[in-house]
Amino acid sequence: MKNLVVLTGAGISAESGISTFRDSDGLWEQYRIEDVATPEAWIKNKALVTDFYNQRRKQLSEVKPNYGHIGLVELEKQFNISIITQNVDNLHERAGSKHIVHLHGELTKVRSEHYEELVYELPEDKYEVKIGDLCEKGYQLRPHIVWFGEAVPMMREAVGITQQADILVIIGTSLNVYPAAGLVHYVRPDVPVYLIDPKEVSVNRKNVHVIKKGASEGVKELIQRLNDVKK
Ligand code: OAD
Repeated sequence: MKNLVVLTGAGISAESGISTFRDSDGLWEQYRIEDVATPEAWIKNKALVTDFYNQRRKQLSEVKPNYGHIGLVELEKQFNISIITQNVDNLHERAGSKHIVHLHGELTKVRSEHYEELVYELPEDKYEVKIGDLCEKGYQLRPHIVWFGEAVPMMREAVGITQQADILVIIGTSLNVYPAAGLVHYVRPDVPVYLIDPKEVSVNRKNVHVIKKGASEGVKELIQRLNDVKK
């Protein structure tokens, strides 16, 4: 089976009801990155940052995967699929995708603010973390999120996967944030790239097949196009 690698961003979860970051109704229109998504923000106001991610978790508990996520699971019958997501939600997991790499962390996990290897999965029904919730060594629990200015530990694995791609699919990302956006340049030059996004996204590469649609419709069309190529 061919290796199909999918890079996803906030747009794939938009139709589930999770807002993106940089669209006009996006999260970064309502909050300043430097207040809630940097190590400095954490040091300055742990309560505010904790509350921001509690809200994200609450929202996540109220939504479900859409056909964008589900269609990618259906494609597992025909391709060896790896999903590299910038999203911190768990909608790919809940749809049933098997191989998922989270580049920017996971909302459903927390970790020690001092010992980064002490990572804990939150119980399914618990989205609220409080100041005073501690790791086993007595340090405050922080979101298991890669904030701006922090290293991206899963990048090495993501690069390895991307280098093995026979087909690359990009869904719902503005490709504004590095190093994630740079993954595109690790695919072999002959590899076809499919890009699903209702807006124009610039990818500096040849052989890009643009599907200018939302994730659900876009994944439907992708499946159709991949079947046409096979015939
Ligand atoms: P952005 O908000 O930058 O981009 C979202 C993309 O989704 C845009 O290109 C939209 O056009 C597209 N989009 C909107 N609705 C869509 C739909 N229904 N179907 C498909 N696409 C749609 O989000 P990301 O590129 O994911 O990091 O942002 C990257 C990172 O920046 C995030 O992981 C997050 C953020 O700051 C951290 O918080 C560390």
